[in-house]
Amino acid sequence: MRSAASPSRFEELSLLIAGRLGLHFPAARLRTMENALGEAARIAGHGTTTAFLDALLRPSPPDELFDALVRELTVGETYFFREPAVFAAIREQFLPEWSRRWAHRMALPRFWSAGCCSGEEAFTLAIALERVGFPAPERAEILASDLNPHFLRLAREGIYRPWSFRGAPDWLRAGYFRAVDGERLEVRGDIRRAVRFQRLNLAGSGFPATDNGTAHVDLILCRNVLMYFTPERLARTAARLADCLNEGGWLVVGAAETGHIEVPGLAPARFGDLTVFVKGGARTRSKPPVAPSARVVDPAAIVAPAPMTLPSRTLPVPPLPENPPPSIDEVRRLASAGERVAALALCDRLLRGDRINTIAHFLRATILLEQGNSAEAEAALRRALYLEPDFVAALLILGQTARAAGRAAVADRHLRTTLRLVSALDPQAVLPETDGMTAGRMAETLALLVADRPVHSRRSAPVATAA
Ligand SMILES: C[S@@+](CC[C@H](N)C(=O)[O-])C[C@H]1O[C@@H](n2cnc3c(N)ncnc32)[C@H](O)[C@@H]1O
Repeated sequence: MRSAASPSRFEELSLLIAGRLGLHFPAARLRTMENALGEAARIAGHGTTTAFLDALLRPSPPDELFDALVRELTVGETYFFREPAVFAAIREQFLPEWSRRWAHRMALPRFWSAGCCSGEEAFTLAIALERVGFPAPERAEILASDLNPHFLRLAREGIYRPWSFRGAPDWLRAGYFRAVDGERLEVRGDIRRAVRFQRLNLAGSGFPATDNGTAHVDLILCRNVLMYFTPERLARTAARLADCLNEGGWLVVGAAETGHIEVPGLAPARFGDLTVFVKGGARTRSKPPVAPSARVVDPAAIVAPAPMTLPSRTLPVPPLPENPPPSIDEVRRLASAGERVAALALCDRLLRGDRINTIAHFLRATILLEQGNSAEAEAALRRALYLEPDFVAALLILGQTARAAGRAAVADRHLRTTLRLVSALDPQAVLPETDGMTAGRMAETLALLVADRPVHSRRSAPVATAA
């Protein structure tokens, strides 16, 4: 694809985005940024990408232009009870210890979903807390923030499609949502009122601050947000988040982000495969790990009401192992030997040290699919595609997964995009991660799959008529 502006202008924009939004767009992701810019230009009513880029690069560009860009640049991947081990740890480790402190405190416990997207994470927190006797806003404060105003609008609306419930237990829909039409579900009124949504840029300096509720927080969920930041901004934001915490408070980041949190004053504490960061000195752990190695935890088992137990004794948390980072070949070897649990654990470790390793995200997805965890597998594939939008094998599997789940329209969209990509390649080119399949062969196969409507190749004549 030809760039609409010279690379140096894009480099300038990449720096501006990194400075203002924290988001990392190195040379390898230029195409993604360019596509986002084109779409944002259209939304903002600018004639061309170049005119839009010029307007953005002028001193003090209007906020509306940036908002249009933010909408296209931010990744809205989220769902209810994502990574259930986090909510298990909150229930079984955090709350028993903290409920004792709250008993002697005037202020309500304060929770913050930082980078909440369309609200699924914050509402999960509200539901998990309500089920163990901490309903907000009566007994807890829940703040949720995001940069993207469009996501915040969706969050405040609280109406969700089935895709937001992938992997969630049935009781969640039945107990906390009501149908608004044939497909969409609206979150219960008290749960919606439990969360206060606000706009906040995590790359900015607006926190901690008492007026927006980001000071004296007890637990922060900032998951799958910092992985999109430049390394410098990641470090700076993590340090600011630490400043927002009360002593002993928790910072919980995404699995791929834990390896990147190095903040003086934040100590890692491990609960099985889950690592959280605790403000203050040596950590204690009240119970055995909540999630045995690489086990997928059933959300239903986690948030069912259970009596609160106080820790009977404390154990020092072992330090994080300092093994050398694993290689992608080791992951492959274990996966092809059928050692899925070990392969997944190794892959996760690799990603903790190298969160933008596209192949590792892809391999992780294939292992998760073999384990039957298609929700996490799709999330991993999207991550791979976010990093490398032309990754044919990832797009293909995403399409196949959607097709297997009966989401025909989504499957069709992914498969058609895959077909467009491979049709633009040399037919003899071997596609990475496809066991040696060539672009030509893949195009033929895909043309058969999506043959009901014509698909146009970028380079050549329509190929969908091959059937
Ligand atoms: C992949 S979603 C994660 C949602 C949720 N935390 C989860 O793990 O399911 C990333 C979110 O981070 C938000 N985000 C990205 N950059 C941000 C920034 N500079 N400040 C605040 N939020 C930001 C995006 O708008 C998006 O909603």
